[in-house]
Amino acid sequence: MRPTQIPQTYRVKSFGCQMNVYDGERMAELLAEQGITAAPDGEEADLVVLNTCHIREKAAEKVYSDIGRLRRADGSSPLIAVAGCVAQAEGDEIMKRAPAVQMVVGPQAYHRLPEMIREATGGKRVTDTDMPAQTKFGALPKRKRSGPAAFLTVQEGCDKFCTYCVVPYTRGAEVSRPHADLVDEAKRLVDAGAREISLLGQNVNAWTGEDAKGRTIGLDGLIRELAEIPDLARIRYTTSHPNDFTEGLIAAHGEVDKLMPFLHLPVQAGNDRVLKAMNRSHTAESYLKVLEKVRAARPDIALSGDFIVGFPGESDAEFEDTLALVDTVRYAQCFSFKYSPRPGTPAATMDGQIPAEVMTERIMRLQAALGRDQTAFNKASVGKTCQVLVERRGKLPGQWLGKSPWLQSVYFDGDVAIGDMVTVELTEGGYNAVSARLLGPVPA
Ligand code: SAH
Ligand code: SF4
Ligand code: F3S
Repeated sequence: MRPTQIPQTYRVKSFGCQMNVYDGERMAELLAEQGITAAPDGEEADLVVLNTCHIREKAAEKVYSDIGRLRRADGSSPLIAVAGCVAQAEGDEIMKRAPAVQMVVGPQAYHRLPEMIREATGGKRVTDTDMPAQTKFGALPKRKRSGPAAFLTVQEGCDKFCTYCVVPYTRGAEVSRPHADLVDEAKRLVDAGAREISLLGQNVNAWTGEDAKGRTIGLDGLIRELAEIPDLARIRYTTSHPNDFTEGLIAAHGEVDKLMPFLHLPVQAGNDRVLKAMNRSHTAESYLKVLEKVRAARPDIALSGDFIVGFPGESDAEFEDTLALVDTVRYAQCFSFKYSPRPGTPAATMDGQIPAEVMTERIMRLQAALGRDQTAFNKASVGKTCQVLVERRGKLPGQWLGKSPWLQSVYFDGDVAIGDMVTVELTEGGYNAVSARLLGPVPA
């Protein structure tokens, strides 16, 4: 590898979950601190960070095709760093398969990027997939910029070891960031313009910490404290695990106005034998019980979940239990996936792998049911007056896009600006979005 010049411009492309988006933002800030600037849209960057996701098969294949696409007509490439969960899981493989890649950096090691860039421009190919006990956060620059809706990672890693999932291997053990750091970061984000903060974690409701008085608190305690930040209007959190759901968090949904009425609580399947084989450690019934309690605390809560169809051994009748659960819950929105065998996970070598056509038929039936409920939820919200945080312009002239408290995408026309909190009346509901009429700014 020949030495190259120190890059002047960067582009960070993040795939996968919101935690990857958060990491991508932090990498961008880190690069900016080095004097490297964001490449303007449409222009080639000197340094490209592919912040990858390993959760399903296609995600990893996409990385290799993206690397190929970065190649210039003369055969050269920009400086390429592969970060994220594919880097963690397949770092050595990437170095072998993709000679254009100069850096491989795992999710717990990206604070070392500046140093790695110096080594890479000196002609070395460098890999850092360490998971140091001391987290990266202390080494990252303080937050200075934010859009109206910000992400804040409060917890990382996963100890649950669902038998299909790579996350415990790519992200390591569950770690909660200290309370004081989170309050500080939240305040900085708000000073930089955030009106909404989504607290993130692979198991966000497993977060625990000590408050300023030394008392042990859970996620509900953290939410209650962040709600005291005057200019912060909205708080959300994702993703929760049914088994870590505390009475305190349920109560917070009824008591904290700034906590939005939306809950993403993955269930994966509706059949207890399948859930056991997945090592989910909850049953369909215990999951429904949590939802029932949250609904009692906050009757208008919008519910969301994740599903996997075609887990090894899932019979037709067991799949029907998933459809039955969907009929019971009536979700506002959901993600659903075909089971994808991941190398190194227990499920990948289980008997009873499901044929592709069965998988396709099941996902189509599930998505039809989920689509029906999502459209019904959006239609049922027509006529409601609610607040919307303006996040960006819509596609049509004069049109704006924001989110309702229930996380619906809301389109409306009017004289507003990004970051405004406005009052609207919801006028028309479709599958993906809701139209609205602007009533005015939110009274102070
Ligand atoms: N920590 C979260 C999210 C994990 S990844 C949770 O526990 O719910 C997001 C979703 O991807 C999962 O909820 C699951 O539905 C899906 N997923 C994970 N591994 C998968 C696999 N091997 N095949 C298909 N979908 C998978
Ligand atoms: Fe994966 Fe299960 Fe952990 Fe979620 S709880 S990240 S699905 S192992
Ligand atoms: Fe993907 Fe890693 Fe997130 S595998 S879903 S980027 S934790």
